[in-house]
Amino acid sequence: MTSTKPLVVANWKMHKTAFEAIAFVRELLTLDPDCRHVDAVICPPFTALAAVHDALGVSPVELGAQTMWYADSGAFTGEISPRMLLESGVRWVVLGHSERRQYCGEVDETINRKIRAALAHGITPIVAVGDTPSEHAAGITLDRVAEQTRAAFDGMIADEVARCVVAYEPIWAIGSGQIDSPEDANAVMREIRGAVPGLDRTRILYGGSVEPASIRRLVAQPNIDGALVGGASLEASSFVALLDEAQGRALSGQASM
Ligand code: PGA
Repeated sequence: MTSTKPLVVANWKMHKTAFEAIAFVRELLTLDPDCRHVDAVICPPFTALAAVHDALGVSPVELGAQTMWYADSGAFTGEISPRMLLESGVRWVVLGHSERRQYCGEVDETINRKIRAALAHGITPIVAVGDTPSEHAAGITLDRVAEQTRAAFDGMIADEVARCVVAYEPIWAIGSGQIDSPEDANAVMREIRGAVPGLDRTRILYGGSVEPASIRRLVAQPNIDGALVGGASLEASSFVALLDEAQGRALSGQASM
């Protein structure tokens, strides 16, 4: 495994202007999150990346993007390249999020090209896969998620795959308040780990309605190495609580591990 620390990734989606993002980071720094036993990443919208990078300064919290294009430059109106992200201080990128698949025409083939491009630039891809409500109801989650995972990493060697992170996000759990049970999520993630050579060495995150109250039970599962968090990552205090819980501290300010 690339790291044994849990990884907590804040996916802000289309929330916060640069000004609002700076206010978040100022509050976050005041709360002084303990990141000794957890890796923390914030993925703001593109327009806030540079501002968040500057505001984070020497904080151990790292910067991620929510998507990117695969080419370095060219005629791709509206897109952002890995080189542009790198220059903004980005070290992580979420690829294949279900909202991008659903609303922006993201498909497995482009996700595969984006993963390769991110790795070529030293940006760690966080590859999102997940089952729809109907796939969940039909009981085909394991097959569907394994298939998506294989398509995302198609043609890649195990050592490349091992440098990525996967996020399992049941689509029916995203933003719904209806979290998957840690045991069921763990079973899906075990399937993901076995789907492609190299994933036995990566961190696999759970995403979908994760909150400070639920993250600890999730990361206690053997195949759950952290969380990709939307709604509960938008307030600095809640983000710090997620970090504290993920590294096993009941409350910020209690005796450290
Ligand atoms: P949520 O979003 O935590 O608000 O459910 C997670 C995600 O979509 O990454």
